[in-house]
Order: sequence, then C-alpha cells, then structure tokens
Amino acid sequence: MDRDFIINITKQFVKEKLEREGTGHDWWHISRVVEMTRRIARIECADLFVCTMAALLHDLADEKVVMDEAKGLSEIQDWLSEQPVTEHEQQQILTIIQTISYKHGQQSLATKEAKVVQDADRLDAIGAIGIARCFAFAGSKGNLIHNPEEEAELNMTQERYRSKQGTAINHFYEKLLNLKSLMNTSEGYRIAQQRHQFMNQFLEQFYGEWEGKN
Ligand code: ADP
Ligand code: NI
Repeated sequence: MDRDFIINITKQFVKEKLEREGTGHDWWHISRVVEMTRRIARIECADLFVCTMAALLHDLADEKVVMDEAKGLSEIQDWLSEQPVTEHEQQQILTIIQTISYKHGQQSLATKEAKVVQDADRLDAIGAIGIARCFAFAGSKGNLIHNPEEEAELNMTQERYRSKQGTAINHFYEKLLNLKSLMNTSEGYRIAQQRHQFMNQFLEQFYGEWEGKN
C-alpha cells in the first residue's frame, strides 16, 4: 500500500482523537510537529516515513492527553499492527514515541529519526507558539501567570514540579529556556536560537510591564 495513504489515514485517526484536546496538545500541535519533522528529516536524510508516523502518533501515549500511558501505547501498537507497516518500522516508531518526552530525561537517543522528532516536538514548545502553549497549559490547570512573591518560584520541589503547580512564567525557567541547548540536530538548533531570542525579548517586555516601566 502507498505510504502516503498510511500517513493520511493515520492523520485522520489522530485528528479525531485530539480535536478537542485543551492543554496545548491539540491536533494543530501535531500538525506543526509533523511539518517541522519532515523539514528537518529531509535535511538530516532521516527515514521520512518512520519520522512522520512517529510525529503523528507521539502524543497519544502522553499522560497529559490520555489517562493511562500504557493504554495509550497499546492503542498505538494496535493501530500500527493493522497497517501494512513492517515489524521493524513498528518497533522504530514505538521506540521514538516512548523515548522523546522531556520527562524521560536527557537520555541520549539511539536513532537519527528519534532525534529529528524530538527536536520538532521541542521547537513547538518555544518561540511565539511555545509561549502561547505555555499560557494555555497553565490556564487549563488553573495556574497563575506569574507570582513574584513566591520565593520558591524558581526552585520548585520535585513534588510540585510533578503536580504542575508552577506558574506559567516559572515554566520558562524550568523548561523552555533550557530547550535550545538540548537540540540534537543543527537545523533544530538554528531554528531554536531565533525562537529562544524571541522568548528572552518577551520576558524582558513582560517584566517591564509588570513593574510599570514599559
Ligand atoms: P513533552 O511532550 O516533552 O512531555 P509536555 O507535554 O510537558 O512536553 O509539554 C507540552 C506543552 O505544555 C509544552 O508547550 C509545554 O511548554 C507546556 N507545559 C508543560 N508543563 C507546563 C507547566 N507546568 N506550565 C506551563 N506550560 C506547561
Ligand atoms: Ni508533542
């Protein structure tokens, strides 16, 4: 069967599942990650099919999107086994999905394909869109925009970090500003540099307004 056909029906499958997702992992996040994945994959000469499929399915096993990570993963597995995709490709796609998440730490990724998809996913967490997603996520959890009085804002306990109770501004320091230096590919790094600079400008303006200077 044509590879484009498999990609297209997988798109429909994911779109139906994530259409109404409200924490910044909606279908348009997936769509942006797919486009960025393909752009970087071409430059890196990575397997375009494996990368695209992993990008499409990558958030269906995320605990923020589905209640049960294991169940999410087995649904992805079932979907892949129904498609004319080789065992080896299925394994490659599943491994990428399981290893790219930020919460799995900075383990070094085994394949070029995993590196490409991780960069594309991380690029969507920075820059103007990353800022928008950060505030959308914070709003969905009922978290504050910023709390300058909270002495622990930049030094959250592990427990609070896991329960995602930090403010949106705090999230810049716990994650967003670290992503540039964690890029795997040179194209990812190039794009990240520009987006990183934009986030710094945003923070400067934000604090200026907060303090009544701007
Ligand atoms: P990953 O896919 O690497 O696990 P996440 O799912 O944690 O990444 O993040 C997805 C999106 O939600 C990102 O845009 C991220 O910045 C945002 N996000 C995650 N945790 C928080 C938080 N505590 N406050 C604000 N935004 C958050
Ligand atoms: Ni994602």
